[in-house]
Amino acid sequence: MRVLLLGSGAREHALARAIAASPFLDQLTIAPGNPGMADLGTLVQLPTIAEVLDWITLHPIELVVIGPEAPLAAGWADAIRGAGVAVFGPSQQAARLESSKAFAKSVMQRVNVPTAGYAAFHSVAEAIPFVERSGLPWVVKADGLAAGKGVVVAESVSETISAIQTLAGMPAGQQLLLEERLYGPEVSLIAICDGERYSVLPSARDHKRLYEDDYGPNTGGMGTIAPIHAMNYYTAKQLGALVIQPILDFLRLHDMPFIGALYAGVMLTEDGPKVIEYNARFGDPETQVMMPLIDGDVLKALSDAAHGRLDPDALRWHSRAAASVVIASHGYPENPRRGDPITIDSQRIPAGGMVLHAGTMVADGQLVSNGGRVLNAVGVGATHADALKIAYAVVDCITMPGMQYRLDIGQSELP
Ligand code: AMP
Ligand code: GLY
Repeated sequence: MRVLLLGSGAREHALARAIAASPFLDQLTIAPGNPGMADLGTLVQLPTIAEVLDWITLHPIELVVIGPEAPLAAGWADAIRGAGVAVFGPSQQAARLESSKAFAKSVMQRVNVPTAGYAAFHSVAEAIPFVERSGLPWVVKADGLAAGKGVVVAESVSETISAIQTLAGMPAGQQLLLEERLYGPEVSLIAICDGERYSVLPSARDHKRLYEDDYGPNTGGMGTIAPIHAMNYYTAKQLGALVIQPILDFLRLHDMPFIGALYAGVMLTEDGPKVIEYNARFGDPETQVMMPLIDGDVLKALSDAAHGRLDPDALRWHSRAAASVVIASHGYPENPRRGDPITIDSQRIPAGGMVLHAGTMVADGQLVSNGGRVLNAVGVGATHADALKIAYAVVDCITMPGMQYRLDIGQSELP
């Protein structure tokens, strides 16, 4: 199979590794990719959908895999499918599960997926009196894509009101949602979907805040651990029956079948699991810990899903554990510094360890930082403790001025 993978993060680096391990792969092209992926495929620059369409016309690509949300929300999957090439990634309509939180909420309500109670507002003038009348703090969410900056979990009425004012000023904040606050541990459930059926990937937990003990600003994710003790393959399938299958059924019935990775961010509350958000793609950094634990052919599953013939049990989970520690640049997430030199002592990377690249580039022969999240130090081991030990041993092989990382990734899964 000739495959084109779109994206440049550590999520795509993990996907590229899994795809490259498949005997079905003939050729892998990655656009734009990053320096860490250079030995897995050919890196090309295709920054616009017009260039992607030209490329797949000139080269006999059989499957396009789309990593990030922006091209999905912009309808790239529709355009590529329109050109007659199979795509793993949802249509623009179906991707609204992520690109419009109001759409996701209305679908959840229609099909009785458990979620937080909410109210939607089109103006600050309506939202503020509602909050004042309630006398309660709310979780304030901008409707649209906001690169992880669209949610404020307010602690008081006044914080709720200032969050409303801030988020309403963002392009994503044309519509605002006020959500009831939920409590409980979070789990990321990601399913490969073919429009009708799904296959669950190993359960994982992300760590969204910048600092230890969940302090500091929200980020795209500072590290992950998998699987979660509370969720094995069987219970993940049960959760999928509650929060994935009804969504697939609804979207198929309404002529927007979901083909791609459906990510449910779920909170395990005292009243049972409740969905906090859907993403219409693989998680980052969840994918980095899921891929090494999959027992099965990932490329075949992606291709089967794109062709509407997924075997829901084709991907099982290895009985091992994986951890990923994100190395972020100085100033992340507000103002990431670029251009810091990176050294990786590859000789010292332990067995089961690997470095995945995200925001890196080569300048004058030197690897340097080129974004907020720069590298992922990944460890795979027999137990969660082993995986974490290996991941942090990989961190010790990396130097970069101003590097930020959390020391407490995966603590919830330790005995
Ligand atoms: P999101 O950007 O939608 O992933 O939300 C960021 C984080 O905000 C989530 O990972 C949760 O920790 C938190 N969050 C979102 N919605 C709620 C809610 N209704 N109750 C409590 N926490 C929430
Ligand atoms: N790690 C959270 C996300 O991918 O949205």
